[in-house]
This record gives sequence, structure tokens and C-alpha cells, in this order.
Amino acid sequence: MAKDKNILKHLAIIMDGNGRWAKERGLVRTKGHEAGANVTRDITEYCAKHETIETVTFYAFSTENWKRPKYEVAFLMKLLDSWLRAELETYHKFGAKFQPIGNIEGFSPKLQETIAYIQKETAHHTNVTQILALNYGSREEIAKAANRLAQRGETITEESLGAELPTPYVDIDLMIRTSGEQRLSNYLLWQNSYAEFFFTPTLWPDFTAHELEDIIDQYVNRNRRFGGL
Ligand code: FPP
Repeated sequence: MAKDKNILKHLAIIMDGNGRWAKERGLVRTKGHEAGANVTRDITEYCAKHETIETVTFYAFSTENWKRPKYEVAFLMKLLDSWLRAELETYHKFGAKFQPIGNIEGFSPKLQETIAYIQKETAHHTNVTQILALNYGSREEIAKAANRLAQRGETITEESLGAELPTPYVDIDLMIRTSGEQRLSNYLLWQNSYAEFFFTPTLWPDFTAHELEDIIDQYVNRNRRFGGL
């Protein structure tokens, strides 16, 4: 009997390889981030039009990314601000809702304001939720959630802890990392428990909706057993 195809509701992506993409072209690293941000838009558009994808979560800035040279961090902050503001039109066009996760209070007041503004303006959209992980670290997210439960005197169980996370129980179905690296880098450790993983050598600025479609075609036919037989 033919097996049912897997349904893809939550896609998560580690966008890696911007710096190498720029270097290959003799460009400064920041040009790679600019090119990468355009791809984030294309992939969000694809997800908004996709029949079953409800959520796409991108790793845009990790808590470890502060260790990069000052000028690169400053560039990423500026890019995020201008990109989000320019994106408002496309969020409306694709019916995409923007939602941040991570330590937003670690950003400048201006960037925090932009994040809150875009979140408010897109809150009514229903085609897809685009989550950007910003100043995000999964261990910290889990530790903070456990602390909140402890402070309220609640028992820590899989259910209570899962529900306390900012993306409660939105289990990830498919996790993609570009650029050939094969690690999770402190990204959504809890939510990735039963995800199917795909690693592609493509550098993020070269990633396309077409390649995503190929990966999804493989994903729908994978045998997901969730620990059973
Ligand atoms: C990895 O490339 C990329 C990041 C540090 C974060 C992703 C950032 C973007 C896609 C650009 C900004 C995005 C938005 C949505 C505004 P890398 O610099 O680690 O590349 P490398 O490993 O080749 O050096």
C-alpha cells in the first residue's frame, strides 16, 4: 500500500554562507548579507504560496554573532532595520505575518521599535508566519522558560516547558542548513526534536525556491517514524 506523504507545516532554515559567497566574488562580506536578505524574501514568498507551509523560521542573528568584527555587526543591525521597513510592502503583498524570537531587548531602541512596528502591522496576515530568530540562542531560551516555571512554582514537564517557549510546540518538520556545514549551532534545539534534516552545499545567496522545492519533494517521501516502527 502506498505510504501517506509527509505534510510540511513548519520549515526552519539556517541561512549560512553569505561571507563565502562574497569572498568568491572578491566582494566585502557585507555584500553577501545583502544578497542573502533578498533570498530570505524569495523563500518567504514561496512559503506564503505553498499549500501546507504555515510557518518558516529563519536564523538571522545568533547570540554568538556579536563576536564578529564590530563593523559587520553594525552592518547587520542596519541591514535588519532597513530590510524590515522595506519588507512591509512585501509582507502585505504575500499575506505574511512577521514574528521575532530571541532577545530583542538586546538591540538598539530604534531597531526594537522597527521590530515591534512590523510585527504589529503584519499581525493580521494568515498565509504564512515568518519567524526571524534575532539575537537568539536555544539553550538560553530553554533555561529562561524553565526559570519562569520555577519562579511560578510550577512543575517542569515536557508539556509545561514546551508551552512556555515562545514558539510553543510548533514542532519543526523540515530543517535546512545551507553552505555545507552540518551542525545545529544552538538553533531551536527543542523544536527540532523530530525534524528531518537536509544539508545543501549551496551558499545562502545562491539558494532558490527551485532548490527548496526539490528538497520538499524529497522530504514528503521520507519515512518519518517518530521513534515507532
Ligand atoms: C551566515 O553567513 C549568515 C548570517 C550571519 C546571518 C544571516 C543573515 C542574512 C541572511 C542577512 C540578513 C538577513 C535579513 C533577513 C535581514 P556567514 O556570514 O556566516 O557566512 P560564512 O559562513 O560564509 O562566513
